[in-house]
Amino acid sequence: MAKKYITTPIYYINANPHLGHAYASIAADILARYYRKKGEKVYFLTGTDEHGAKNALVAEKEGISPQEFADRQSKKFAKISKVVNLSNDDFIRTTDPRHEKIVREFIQKLYDKKFIYKKEYEGWYCIGCEEFKTEKDLVDGCCPVHKTKAVKQKEENWFFKLSKFQGKIKDLIEKDKIKILPKERKNEILGKINLGLEDISISRTGVSWGVKVPWDEKQTVYVWVDALLNYYSAPIIFGKYEFWPPDIHFVGKEIMWFHAIIWPAILLAAEESLPKIIFVHGLFSVDGHKMSKSIGNVIDPKEMKDEFGTDAVRYYVMREISFGEDGDVSVARIKERYNNDLAAGLGNLVQRVLSMVVRYKVKVEKLPPACKRLSAAMAGRASSFQQEKIHNLTESFKFQEALVEIWKEIARINKEIADTQPWQLAKDGEDKELEEFLKTKYCEILAIADLVEPYLPETAEKIKNQAKTLKPVPIFQKIE
Ligand code: MSP
Repeated sequence: MAKKYITTPIYYINANPHLGHAYASIAADILARYYRKKGEKVYFLTGTDEHGAKNALVAEKEGISPQEFADRQSKKFAKISKVVNLSNDDFIRTTDPRHEKIVREFIQKLYDKKFIYKKEYEGWYCIGCEEFKTEKDLVDGCCPVHKTKAVKQKEENWFFKLSKFQGKIKDLIEKDKIKILPKERKNEILGKINLGLEDISISRTGVSWGVKVPWDEKQTVYVWVDALLNYYSAPIIFGKYEFWPPDIHFVGKEIMWFHAIIWPAILLAAEESLPKIIFVHGLFSVDGHKMSKSIGNVIDPKEMKDEFGTDAVRYYVMREISFGEDGDVSVARIKERYNNDLAAGLGNLVQRVLSMVVRYKVKVEKLPPACKRLSAAMAGRASSFQQEKIHNLTESFKFQEALVEIWKEIARINKEIADTQPWQLAKDGEDKELEEFLKTKYCEILAIADLVEPYLPETAEKIKNQAKTLKPVPIFQKIE
């Protein structure tokens, strides 16, 4: 049986979860649900990244221990997983002692294989990125992403021979053995590789909140190496090793480098299998501004869910922005999409069809198994369902396009009802025709439920339940 190991990035706990964090998680969840429904074995992993200077600093400011802080914050991320209805199989935390042990063993292996050496290093560190920057990365001494001053740090660190893997990684990416998507991202990363890969420091002396380097306990493992290894440790810890290696990593564009370069390099060094696909998505801005705590425009998925419901949040983020590109989100837009696409579009159609089925006493109780045949028969017609096309779009990460196609079907069915005027058929005594028509629409509604299920799982269930019990009630109440 085919298997899929699907991951989200593990989230830094220094700040509270926001809609940007939920984004990759929702995408990963859609794919996980889609493949499960298709009958594949799926392992879907998410979690939190809890070590490192950035997290320790906030804990210190709050006057609590880093572990207490991590425990509290990690719970918030686990809660958000529920808010957006993730079907993750496991939730990994990097402060789990079982993970820490695996990290130590893994880097010991790299050390034993002579991929690690000691070197004095001086560089500009951005704590926001948890990364050393070169002079030319900085703008007026500041990190261009976080707009904060980079700090000069001089340390004797353990270095990983990343440069040794330049040719190999380039080849793997070029040949799509590690497939970087979308295509533009692949070109971007190849461009970076061509500039040359330098060895990287993989330990810190100044950061005590981390996994101790096994052969030099004064140092801790660089937080990014620790974090990347979650993808490796989790299947071992949770007894899912059959799923290794990862099939699809979802990551935001600002962390592509770590996933496309450093991650494969340390796996190659340890002679481990490699991930197959890395899908790189864009970032949200809110009303044209970067989502940030200081601007005060952070969107809390929980608040959004409380107002519009889980499926509306899932629908909105995937429908609004072409997956892979940057885009803007706003509360006004989600309301618009909610009212137009969900309430007036999908919700209204379901209610309309089911109400007519009830009113005209169409016998549909035994229909669902026959619907499959019916939709196969319809597949030959011009107005047939584009099911195959929609599945292909989902499999190729074109989530927005898939939703657009589904909503075209919804519009088509609505139009067919307006054109056919079933109420007129009833008046004219065209009972046979009326019954045939409504049976088809009933089956089409069930097909729509199947198609939206990975995207809107709660809605799909409601549609199926209503179709079964024939008690149509509005799924999405219009919001004024
Ligand atoms: N801890 C690292 C990832 C380690 S994975 C081995 C990290 N954490 S993060 O919390 O800062 O970001 C996690 C993910 O959230 C990233 O993929 C990032 O792109 C995504 N997003 C954070 N803000 C975002 C938006 N405003 N919009 C879309 N995604 C955003 O990086």
